Amino acid sequence: MAPILDIRNLRKSYGATEILHDINVAIEPGDFLVLVGPSGCGKSTLLNCIAGLEPITSGTIDIAGRDMTDVSPRDRDIAMVFQSYALYPTMTVAKNITFGMKVRGVDQATQEQKLSEVAELLQITPLLQRKPGQLSGGQRQRVAMGRALVRDPALFLFDEPLSNLDAKLRVEMRTEIKKLHQTLNASIVYVTHDQIEAMTLATKIVVMKGGVIQQIGTPAEIYNQPANLFVADFMGSPAMNLIPAKVRRDGSANRIEIARAGAAPLVLEDSRPADLPADVILGLRPEDIAEAGFRAGSNVQEAQCHIDMVEPAGADTYVVSELGGKQVTARLHAETSARAGQSMTLAFDLGKVSYFAPESGQRLN
Ligand SMILES: Nc1ncnc2c1ncn2[C@@H]1O[C@H](COP(=O)(O)OP(=O)(O)OP(=O)(O)O)[C@@H](O)[C@H]1O
Ligand SMILES: [Mg+2]
Repeated sequence: MAPILDIRNLRKSYGATEILHDINVAIEPGDFLVLVGPSGCGKSTLLNCIAGLEPITSGTIDIAGRDMTDVSPRDRDIAMVFQSYALYPTMTVAKNITFGMKVRGVDQATQEQKLSEVAELLQITPLLQRKPGQLSGGQRQRVAMGRALVRDPALFLFDEPLSNLDAKLRVEMRTEIKKLHQTLNASIVYVTHDQIEAMTLATKIVVMKGGVIQQIGTPAEIYNQPANLFVADFMGSPAMNLIPAKVRRDGSANRIEIARAGAAPLVLEDSRPADLPADVILGLRPEDIAEAGFRAGSNVQEAQCHIDMVEPAGADTYVVSELGGKQVTARLHAETSARAGQSMTLAFDLGKVSYFAPESGQRLN
């Protein structure tokens, strides 16, 4: 299948400053691509380049098999939903949704049919005669989506469409957008700085930092095999534990030693990979450290640890222990008997470990 969006060697500068550095990414029809990264990393700029709202400095952008690099935004077969929604305040919801079709000369009957279809889909039929000022944030957000949906474009572009909503509504709308994607099987590029939104919505994630793509992968790939320390730290909440460790080769096994203040080093054994350097950063997610007896896996190892802090979080309880000079978080079950200031046996799932080079930050396994 031909990609629905194919970006090659895209560079974008403002004056002498290059903002996007050699971006290469392609998505298949039906993909939900999420661009995620910290503020200022170039997500909106890249989306605007795809939309044609910003000219690019070099490279090419193909949409649905056509070279759109120098095509004007209106002829790119895209529909965009902005963070601000940009609704017309004096028009009713119905007019807001049909306005674009009217401008393009779509006949009245088709306009009405599309309007009622989309209103039904977004459950805003009772709101069609209201003005945007008479709507809640979530309803306005739906109207903005409705306006994009009636276009039936090759590609939808969303720039942080949920960022104006409160936390509860965000989660609700997130589910609705996901359902919508499944119903329509639409191709979507979606910008967010929220890594949870990225994980829950995407079929494919692009993690960006400073205008450079750090990793492209499925949510599971990004979560389980982060390509470098930046991705490891950025994706996941609470974040992956990143613990400095020494590696000693002992026959066919690696002995992984983690320093502890006022105690003997914690020693774990992991035979893979065979060629680790003497110094590594060991990455282990909070859920891969459990209370002893509560974790099954190919290489689970137990060790006595001093618990500095216990943080109940409803369904789980997080405990913190200092290892390798870091506050290491473990995710335990809610009924754990862990107490701050006491020791307990924790189970480390070495089968889930990521190793990183301390200098370059690159993944080693
Ligand atoms: N018109 C412009 N002229 C010069 N620099 C710009 C312009 N627009 C954006 N930038 C710079 O480009 C970089 C990327 O900006 P962009 O808006 O794409 O970031 P973002 O990832 O969308 O961030 P946020 O999450 O805050 O929306 C920033 O350093 C920004 O200051
Ligand atoms: Mg932005």
